[in-house]
Amino acid sequence: MSNNIDGKVMVITGASSGLGRAAAHHLSSLGATVVLAARRAERIQTLAQELNKGGGRALAVTTDVSEFDQVQQLADTVVETYGRIDVLINNAGLMPLSPLDRLKVADWDRMIDVNIKGVLYGIGAVLPTMKKQESGHIINVASVAGHKVRPGSTVYSATKTAVRVISEGLRQEVKPYNIRTTVISPGAVDTELADGVTEVDVAENIRKFYAELAVPADSFARAVAFAIGQPANIDINEILYRPTRQEY
Ligand SMILES: NC(=O)c1ccc[n+]([C@@H]2O[C@H](COP(=O)([O-])OP(=O)(O)OC[C@H]3O[C@@H](n4cnc5c(N)ncnc54)[C@H](OP(=O)(O)O)[C@@H]3O)[C@@H](O)[C@H]2O)c1
Repeated sequence: MSNNIDGKVMVITGASSGLGRAAAHHLSSLGATVVLAARRAERIQTLAQELNKGGGRALAVTTDVSEFDQVQQLADTVVETYGRIDVLINNAGLMPLSPLDRLKVADWDRMIDVNIKGVLYGIGAVLPTMKKQESGHIINVASVAGHKVRPGSTVYSATKTAVRVISEGLRQEVKPYNIRTTVISPGAVDTELADGVTEVDVAENIRKFYAELAVPADSFARAVAFAIGQPANIDINEILYRPTRQEY
């Protein structure tokens, strides 16, 4: 019986670590062809080699998702190589938290460029192909922080709230083309994300919070596989999950 994953061509942004890497491993083990996108070329090439050696099908395409031309090039490469795009996982993101009065303007810009514009660029690059196919699945990664805001998470939460809004608008717009959309909002997951916090006091709090309760990245991989693995006429639109002990 088909698992609705085997044989599908899936593009994963932010595949060089954390959630993206875990999803690549899991989906590849379930028979997907995975296209790994991130800026750190060596990491995704090594991962692709590892998956291919283990009997999977993987391709690494170095991509900065904040540059539309690079994201378009990624989509073009996938279509040239495999003839189709079944799934896009818009996962690349960063979380350099800080209170607004620290004026970390470069961090605000990067979060907006990667977490919001990167998601839009991914959608824009794959939509023409998915519309032509009259099938496809776009999965956007938001966060619990897109449902709740706290001091220090204002800009990050704003970007993740934007991802939720974009996902709902997208869902309604692509109905006529038989394209599925899912937004996944994880709570604290043990990845490199918290390493991006540079403000010493904020970083200390976040490290403590993650050390106490963060769950492994395979939690995300299973959530993604659940959404993709549904029969084609079932569209899992939203998944929100947290470590059981996470209050926020
Ligand atoms: N971990 C959590 O607790 C948690 C909770 C909720 C939501 N999330 C979301 O989950 C997603 C993945 O994060 P993670 O936790 O796995 O963190 P991570 O381990 O730091 O991974 C982030 C990934 O994003 C990629 N990335 C960053 N900037 C990029 C750019 N300009 N172009 C292409 N790729 C870029 C990184 O690759 P390169 O540096 O190689 O480009 C890396 O692969 C993010 O959207 C994050 O906001 C995470």
